[in-house]
Amino acid sequence: MNLRALQDIVHQTREFRCTQTIPKLTVAEREKLIRQYHPDYREQAYQTIRFGPNAGDRTVRELAMLLEGDSPIPADFPLTPDYTVDVLVIGGGGAGCAAALHAHAQGAHVLLATKLRLADSNSIMAQGGMQVAVAPDDSPIQHFLDTLRGGHMKNDHQLLKVMVEEGPLITKWLIELGVLFDRSPDGNLQVKTGGGSSRARLLTCSDYTGLEIMRVLKDEVLNQNIHVLEFAAAVELLSDEEGTCTGAILRDLDNKRFIVVAAKAVILATGGIGRLHIQGFPTSNHYGATGDGLALAYRIGAPLVEIDTFQYHPSGAVYPEQLVGALVTEGIRSEGGHLVNAKGERFVNELDTRDVVSSSIIRECQEGRGVRTASGRVGVWLDTPLLELEHGQGTLDKHFPAMVRQYERFGVDIRKEPVLIYPTLHYQNGGVKIDVNSETPVRNLFVAGEASGGLHGRNRLMGNSLLDLMVFGRRAGLAAAARAKMIAQGKLSLAHLERFRAEARKHGVSNQVISPAILPAYTKTS
Ligand code: FUM
Repeated sequence: MNLRALQDIVHQTREFRCTQTIPKLTVAEREKLIRQYHPDYREQAYQTIRFGPNAGDRTVRELAMLLEGDSPIPADFPLTPDYTVDVLVIGGGGAGCAAALHAHAQGAHVLLATKLRLADSNSIMAQGGMQVAVAPDDSPIQHFLDTLRGGHMKNDHQLLKVMVEEGPLITKWLIELGVLFDRSPDGNLQVKTGGGSSRARLLTCSDYTGLEIMRVLKDEVLNQNIHVLEFAAAVELLSDEEGTCTGAILRDLDNKRFIVVAAKAVILATGGIGRLHIQGFPTSNHYGATGDGLALAYRIGAPLVEIDTFQYHPSGAVYPEQLVGALVTEGIRSEGGHLVNAKGERFVNELDTRDVVSSSIIRECQEGRGVRTASGRVGVWLDTPLLELEHGQGTLDKHFPAMVRQYERFGVDIRKEPVLIYPTLHYQNGGVKIDVNSETPVRNLFVAGEASGGLHGRNRLMGNSLLDLMVFGRRAGLAAAARAKMIAQGKLSLAHLERFRAEARKHGVSNQVISPAILPAYTKTS
């Protein structure tokens, strides 16, 4: 049977489904489900890291290989600086731009290096919104509690407190720069509900929230004349005799040469890891999301936290083939979209936490209640036409124009047809350990945004990523600029790399992959 015929069940069961209320799972039910079906609990996908700051910890094979990987830089590489700056920001997404702008505003001489174009990032692709406690019935405490529950109580409390408390401040900054968040008819900021949240607190720009924020931040970086190097990928950090970070080596991807940057402080804002396609999952991430910052920070001695947990967003596209893995925003479920199996049944509260919803979808598909495409993929339905029926014609065009267009390009009208979805690799829940000023245990090395870890515990809530990268991007920029004022430029050496290589040899690790990966293998032409 073709997919269009299989969709009939969604239309036929809609009226009945609308009479149902599906409760959220209790803590015990949730833990049981996740342990049984969530990809984080597939033993065979994991291995023990053999050396380095996280020796003995377990993580997925793809990440272990990256962390144990060797540098492309030879031991005798000449370290004559091409640039000498106060603050080097590595990464041109939301965290990198926020860090660069705040460091620059403090008078620091900033260089922003990014391996693709400025703003090419997961940030610009963010759809669903940014969580900030601004509504009258909400508070940072409520936001704190929701996030803690979502993260299985494993969140770093200090980081979380800072994030929820500084949400309103960073929102004001964005609005003053020109970000046009959606407003309700009375002119106040409009808030929407995300999965796992007890209050409506998502600030949105329809489903182009990341695009709107990055439009403004990118403009501001250019307006402030911050020096930007595009197509310059960081491949190694530099350290002095005490192990303090003193700069980085970049690879100029256009001219195939190395660039040495001496910096009093370095901020890694390199984003996520989706393009490692952990456990073979498709991903919602942009092409540059290869976890570069994790490998760089690890080699210089910074420990990582919660590196055994990843977010598989419940709704990645399964059909058409050109869209496989692309995000179908949680916003659709927030506005009432049902998840429906092949028998026309709802099987989970659509606004439960993402790990619960994804595990439930995987269960349905594993137990034969999924819908199969002609190419052999499997998924469940997301009833998008329901939004038009419940909230009126034009709802999808008004609230989800990106989604309507994404499918329209391939002849699918989501106003009339439900879409087939399955979990897609979306986010790394953990990352480099940081303190409240975004500094790692390696002095003068800061990490902000998705590359950092601890804040989200073992499962991030929708909309907390945009807030994380703005709040900690700002903090990293301010702290790095303050540090640069207090210190002289340190010596440039590769002493940490010598130590790392010696450890690899001691553990008999040979034939290492070269890391960071920079781009996934399938994008490389030569
Ligand atoms: O579903 C979404 O729009 C994703 C949002 C997020 O990951 O924060």
